[in-house]
Amino acid sequence: MAKYRTAIIACGNIARVHARAWLNVPGTPVEIGAIADSHPDALREFGEFHNVPAERRYRDYREMLEKERPDFVDVCSWHGMHAEMVVATAARRPRAILCQKPMALSMGDADRMVVACERNGVKLFIAFQRPHHATWLKARDLIREGAIGKVIQVVCDDGGNLLNTNSHNIRLALFLMGEPRAEWVMGAVERTTERMERGFPAEDAALGVVGCDNGATILIMGALKLAHRLGQGARVIGTEGMMELDTGRPPADQWRTDGDQWQPEGSSAKYNDEWGSVRYLNATTGGWKSVEAKWHDAWAHQAWEAYEWAEGRLKDPISDARNGYAAQEIMMALYESARRKQRIELPLRTRVNPLAYAVEHGELPVEWPGPYEVRARIVRGEGMTWGDGGQ
Ligand SMILES: NC(=O)c1ccc[n+]([C@@H]2O[C@H](COP(=O)([O-])OP(=O)(O)OC[C@H]3O[C@@H](n4cnc5c(N)ncnc54)[C@H](O)[C@@H]3O)[C@@H](O)[C@H]2O)c1
Repeated sequence: MAKYRTAIIACGNIARVHARAWLNVPGTPVEIGAIADSHPDALREFGEFHNVPAERRYRDYREMLEKERPDFVDVCSWHGMHAEMVVATAARRPRAILCQKPMALSMGDADRMVVACERNGVKLFIAFQRPHHATWLKARDLIREGAIGKVIQVVCDDGGNLLNTNSHNIRLALFLMGEPRAEWVMGAVERTTERMERGFPAEDAALGVVGCDNGATILIMGALKLAHRLGQGARVIGTEGMMELDTGRPPADQWRTDGDQWQPEGSSAKYNDEWGSVRYLNATTGGWKSVEAKWHDAWAHQAWEAYEWAEGRLKDPISDARNGYAAQEIMMALYESARRKQRIELPLRTRVNPLAYAVEHGELPVEWPGPYEVRARIVRGEGMTWGDGGQ
């Protein structure tokens, strides 16, 4: 029997990736002890795939928390449920909670999560897995050692909306620079259609600049039409050189199986098997130099952090909630800057989601009315197939 038991709330696509990660922590100190999902098919399929006994599968996650008293709780629901589930979980006092990105929909929700965890002595992690890529860990070290001089700007651009795919790159930019404090944000959003992502208003496109206290800026380009898209990665411009980070995955015919689990987006294992790549140049490299590191599953490295923290061996985890909170604040400030048409000094005082507020109050009228969900294909049982879904 493993030393620690993880309970997973919301057993959809990303929960499968997390389950592999917990089970891949070196030495197998963690097992999947219990699961909860409101959808009976999701619960049964996941339970069968991971051999979770029927009596440890719950439709009501609160009942699961009460009865199982797990060591770790893993919140893998859509963004809009993160706050409620983390707050309810914190009250049951597991050792730690790992919650999927983005942390929440607003700063008010993010605050509630932090306060609930602090009051109950529960460690909160926000799951941005990509900084855990072996090569990206090395990239951070190289930047720290001055391989490209002093960082002037980190450029991010991805085809999805802010809260979804761009949140990863914002988190990455902060990570690569050693977690500087963001001082101000100036941004613009375009929303000509009633685009929704996982049930919540999203923008069609976004553009933002973030000023950090290390003197660098982060340039955020979201869903702009660009000939050379960076995607999940970044370009880091330094005084003495440049670095580029990218991600790759095996081809679809090599993905490991999810068995009989419903999988409209293909096997979830493509996430576990992803790799990061890094190259950089400076006056001594004679052109681009690739960064090599032995591959590991970034998600397992993230789960390992929670385990190491529980063992009292890790003081400053990469996925600490403070870091997820910082990324959240930048995104909310970008929305607020677009709404108020001015630069926003941090800390951000607005506690609601400024994009949703603008939509609700008619401050951002659309040209093409009618809401549509970009992740419609993952809505179980609705038979909805439209929408391209970004990434
Ligand atoms: N880190 C990454 O690279 C990455 C990639 C994909 C998704 N995500 C994140 O993961 C989260 C989940 O996305 P997904 O694509 O796995 O969603 P999904 O639709 O595949 O899974 C969500 C699950 O939640 C369940 N659920 C809904 N309401 C519930 C409730 N009240 N109680 C218990 N279960 C409930 C649903 O039945 C479903 O099984 C999102 O926040 C998303 O941002 C992260």
